[in-house]
Amino acid sequence: MIFLLFGPPGAGKGTQSAKLVKEKGMVHVSTGDLFRNAIKNETELGKKAKSLMDAGNLVPDDITIALVEETLKDLQGKDVILDGFPRTTVQAEGLEKILEKMDRKLEQALFIDVDENKLLQRLTGRRVCSNCGASYHVEFHPTKAEGVCDLCGGDVKQRKDDTEAAIKTRLQTYKENTLPLIDYYKTKGIYSAISGEGSTDEVYGRILQQLSVE
Ligand code: AP5
Repeated sequence: MIFLLFGPPGAGKGTQSAKLVKEKGMVHVSTGDLFRNAIKNETELGKKAKSLMDAGNLVPDDITIALVEETLKDLQGKDVILDGFPRTTVQAEGLEKILEKMDRKLEQALFIDVDENKLLQRLTGRRVCSNCGASYHVEFHPTKAEGVCDLCGGDVKQRKDDTEAAIKTRLQTYKENTLPLIDYYKTKGIYSAISGEGSTDEVYGRILQQLSVE
């Protein structure tokens, strides 16, 4: 199975993907994580992506599509969750071409819907481990010791694009570029939606039900 989790920044795509990986053995492909790794490793890709990401703007489509193609090539036969890709119509068309070459297809595009005020609360309170990438929230999911990752002991910090200015840009970018994918996937007959509000376990239950995964 290969499916897409999409929705606004802070909807819980990364949190829910981590649960699907841990409990169902799926593979998580997050373009945001791929770009953040490239920045951490100071690769050419990372240098191109850094300033765009920090400000909350999208990385160009051609770079992003090529990165995903490279990543998916190694995942033939695996159950894959796509998180944060595609987020433009050009990327959605690019994905179709990639999957066609692999003789695979996207089975579901699952939208996670969350009220904008809640998104702001989630994003401004998010903290992420700079070593293993584990995600926390100052109020909803705090670390046991302040600033220290429960899982690996790494430094837990705020993401550079979780400032109010960058969040505003990300939300605007999302509305202009990613919201049109709802109609795109409705036309393809693979769109579904769930509420992303409530506890992470409640949202997870809705996802499993929607994907018909036991
Ligand atoms: P990316 O990393 O994909 O960021 P995003 O889409 O903005 O999504 P987020 O990671 O912010 O949110 P999420 O939905 O994963 O929420 P999370 O689970 O962490 O992309 C970053 C940047 O990379 C982009 O801006 C762009 O520059 C670039 N990029 C990436 N993909 C690209 C592409 N395809 N094309 C071009 N550029 C691209 O949850 C958020 C917080 O809420 C956490 O603290 C969490 O603990 C908390 N939380 C989660 N669920 C709940 C719940 N149910 N109740 C309470 N709190 C909750």
